[in-house]
Amino acid sequence: MPERIIKSTDRVKDIGEVFTPKRTVKLMLDQPEITEKINDLNATFLEPAAGEGAFLVELLKRKLDVAKEQSKDATEMQNNFLLALSTLYGIELMEDNMEMLVMNMSNTFQHIYYHTFDMHDQDIKVVKSANVIISANMAQGNALTYKTSTGAPIIFSEWKSLHNGKVKRTEYTFESIIEGGANTGTVQSNYEQLDLFADPEEQILSKEEKEYLPCKWKDIYKRKIK
Ligand SMILES: C[S@@+](CC[C@H](N)C(=O)[O-])C[C@H]1O[C@@H](n2cnc3c(N)ncnc32)[C@H](O)[C@@H]1O
Repeated sequence: MPERIIKSTDRVKDIGEVFTPKRTVKLMLDQPEITEKINDLNATFLEPAAGEGAFLVELLKRKLDVAKEQSKDATEMQNNFLLALSTLYGIELMEDNMEMLVMNMSNTFQHIYYHTFDMHDQDIKVVKSANVIISANMAQGNALTYKTSTGAPIIFSEWKSLHNGKVKRTEYTFESIIEGGANTGTVQSNYEQLDLFADPEEQILSKEEKEYLPCKWKDIYKRKIK
């Protein structure tokens, strides 16, 4: 089937929607500066006009290859698969593209996961955690206003790899990441600012909701909070 790069001329006019052909994506990602970052499992990528994931899906494939090469055993490889996935972020304006983006990321992860691990090493918790990471890292919204379609702030999670094979999740508003630089505020600290106007009981709840406990990579799906 030929690659479809536009959906309609109206959408090209209104939102500049033209999807990048696979061949072009590959050539662009072959640039040495990009390859260097792909080879660093902790290096993050953000695609602020992600479409259906032309770049993010190819980045995921390449990062999972790196995770395979850099892991000594199956447990480390499962952790590195989730780490690799957790470094990829996207923002997309349109609901239909967003659905395809999430589906393409999830299908790509699962396809490679099930083809890489033997049956006895496969663990559904890894796939469930991958889906939680994808839904946290792919945001539907406007990258220019930092807001979702309901006017709420776009929120992203940092997935910090700890040395004991665990991960710590912390949420930040996209605006604070872009505008805050080194002084980036967590969602928790933003809630603290809003707390001045909120019911005291709600304040405690909202703070507690945002404090994720460190956990094993494959237990991310449990979303355990303090
Ligand atoms: C030129 S297409 C590129 C899509 C994808 N990066 C690719 O290469 O196939 C631009 C995409 O950005 C989205 N978009 C347009 N304005 C946006 C905005 N302000 N914030 C987020 N996404 C936006 C469109 O819906 C469209 O999917």
